[in-house]
Amino acid sequence: MTQDELKQAVAQAAADYVAANAPEGAIIGVGTGSTANFFIDALAPLRPRYKGAVASSEATRKRLEGHGFTVFDLNDVEEIPFYVDGADEIDAGLNMIKGGGGALTREKIVAAVARKFICIADSSKVARELAKLGGTPVLREGFVTDNGNVILDVKGLAIVDPKALEAQINHITGVVTNGLFAIRPANLLLLGTADGV
Ligand code: 5RP
Repeated sequence: MTQDELKQAVAQAAADYVAANAPEGAIIGVGTGSTANFFIDALAPLRPRYKGAVASSEATRKRLEGHGFTVFDLNDVEEIPFYVDGADEIDAGLNMIKGGGGALTREKIVAAVARKFICIADSSKVARELAKLGGTPVLREGFVTDNGNVILDVKGLAIVDPKALEAQINHITGVVTNGLFAIRPANLLLLGTADGV
């Protein structure tokens, strides 16, 4: 199976899971990235079942609207039963590193409101043991997030206590947020592998 086929399979499994478990007329939180895009496409045939969606980025909003979904501002929404999003890495405790698509700030805000975070990832995303090295920040050239911020990609960090590290980085003056999703981890991981989801 190609990586895209794995992403598609896991996105379809998430759409099926949401359809089976979300109340009729629910508003679904939708993440950002190529796997989230496959999820939007998989959710689209069941659109009448949902009142609409909350998007974690402008790209996601456009794709949802392209499929005819009503996209709500988070401030106008009472409840989000499910938030579905991809991840760059995820470990066995379902702590994630996200932000590859640069939408981490809104993703974290929507995820915080959602009752259940469903992470959709293919098997290449499972975290390997990280080397015990200091981080090397590199400015992501030519990129500004939807919220007008720049991103530093940090490689080589030893993430021993993801929750503590997430909080610690957030306390650095000038940091808006970071891509560690450990304080609000996923509740469920649907993992696409060559043997199935
Ligand atoms: C965007 C993200 C994405 O969910 C993450 O980068 C995974 O992307 P993809 O599904 O394209 O591999 O955090 O900010």
